[in-house]
Amino acid sequence: MKKLAAEKAVEYVENGMTLGLGTGSTVEYALKKLGEMVKNGLDIKGIPTSMRTRKIAKEENISLTTMEENPEIDLTIDGADEVDSELNLIKGGGGALTREKIVAYHSKREIIVIDETKVVKALGIDFPLPVEVVKYGWSSTKNKLEEFGCNVKLRKIMGDPYITDNSNYILDCEFVRIDDPEQLEVDINNIPGVVENGLFIGLTDDVIVGSKQGIKTLTR
Ligand code: A5P
Repeated sequence: MKKLAAEKAVEYVENGMTLGLGTGSTVEYALKKLGEMVKNGLDIKGIPTSMRTRKIAKEENISLTTMEENPEIDLTIDGADEVDSELNLIKGGGGALTREKIVAYHSKREIIVIDETKVVKALGIDFPLPVEVVKYGWSSTKNKLEEFGCNVKLRKIMGDPYITDNSNYILDCEFVRIDDPEQLEVDINNIPGVVENGLFIGLTDDVIVGSKQGIKTLTR
């Protein structure tokens, strides 16, 4: 289902584009497909949203650039952890939310690729909201986040804190559900020490959903 969605999104890529390259297992199918297309002559420049994506793109011989060299991003293909009916998202399961959000914000078009399990009635029901925070004072930042009524956990990997590509921590905030994602996005980012949170509000143009029945496209 992920592969179906990712390969459909790649159909929107045109020669000469500067392309935002998202992060995650769904996007990896798109990177593989793009690699094949590059082999057959497609000329694109990619802006990776994580070290992992950078590595895969290099393996696929996709030319890379930076936002400094190419500030105008034509199209970004990225994954998501949850999508609601207004195409608002939770992202950051792979820890790349800050770079993903910067790239999404500066993209003319943001296409999200998911499988059908990620479409939800309200954000926060199935997936905790990731918040990237600087290490300094992180436990006080955590206490402040708990005032929003969520249970907050420092993300760990094999017993040690998970470190983002920006050298920060991730705090995963478990809500029962998020009723007002627009307001919560702003309120969380107002806490000193918060770098960015995984709520993507109004940034998505299309969501391509891979399901057992085939592909469905949701458009804003
Ligand atoms: C990375 O930080 C995330 O935002 C991913 O885009 C998201 O977790 C989706 O990942 P999968 O495609 O692996 O499910």
